[in-house]
Amino acid sequence: MNVMDALNWRYAVRQFSPERLDEDKVMELLGATRLSATSYGLQPYRMILVDDMSVRRSLIEYSYGQEKVADCSHLIVFAVQTRVGDEMVDRYIRSVALARELSVDELKGLAEHMKSVFSGMTSEQKREWAHQQAYIALGTMLTVAPTMEIDTCPMGGIEADGYDSILGLSEKGLETSVVCALGVRHPEDENALLKKVRYDMAEMMMTV
Ligand SMILES: Cc1cc2nc3c(=O)[nH]c(=O)nc-3n(C[C@H](O)[C@H](O)[C@H](O)COP(=O)(O)O)c2cc1C
Repeated sequence: MNVMDALNWRYAVRQFSPERLDEDKVMELLGATRLSATSYGLQPYRMILVDDMSVRRSLIEYSYGQEKVADCSHLIVFAVQTRVGDEMVDRYIRSVALARELSVDELKGLAEHMKSVFSGMTSEQKREWAHQQAYIALGTMLTVAPTMEIDTCPMGGIEADGYDSILGLSEKGLETSVVCALGVRHPEDENALLKKVRYDMAEMMMTV
C-alpha cells in the first residue's frame, strides 16, 4: 500500500479482533520504528512488548478501562530513560565511534557539546525532551504500520505510574511515555465507519 492510501486506511481502532498478527511482521514494524530520528541520535526510549496476558489484563485498570490493551494482538509500551545526561551521551558516543570507525577522542567535541546542552536544562526539560523522542517513534510506528496492513491504536489515555509499577520500569531507569496497541480491526468496530476529520490544507498549511 502506498503511504497516502495507508494513512487513509488507518484509524484509531476501538475494538480489535482476536486475530494474532504474524510475529515476524511485528518485529519488522518494531525494526522500522527503531530507525526513527531522535534528537542528537540519542534514542532515549525503549519499546516494551508486553507479552504476558495476565500483565496486560492488569494494565486495563491503568488505561481508563480500555480493554484493548488486553484484546489487541500485540501491546507496545514506549518508555523513556529517566536519566538524561552525561552517561547517556557517553554511551552514544561509544556507539558512534564503533559504527563509524572513529576514536572516542575524535568525538570529544560533540560529546562536550551535548553534555553542555543537557547541563543547561532543568530535570523537567530533560524529561520532556525524552518524551518528545518517544512520541516521534510512536509517529513512525503509526505511519509504517498501515503500509504493512497492521492496525493500531495510539494510547495516551493511561496512568503512567500504574504502568511503571506493573512493568517494573523504575528499577530499569525507565518511565512510561505512551502506548501503541497493534492488531487487526474487529469487523464490527464502529470506529472503522467514522469519517476522517482533518482540517483543510488551506488551514493546516501556510506559506510565508
Ligand atoms: C498521543 C495520542 C494518544 C491517544 N490516546 C488514545 C487513547 O487513549 N484511546 C483511544 O481510543 N484513542 C487514542 N488516540 C487516538 C485519537 O483519538 C485519534 O487518533 C483521533 O481521534 C483521530 O482519529 P483517527 O486516528 O482515527 O483518524 C490517541 C492518539 C494520539 C496521537
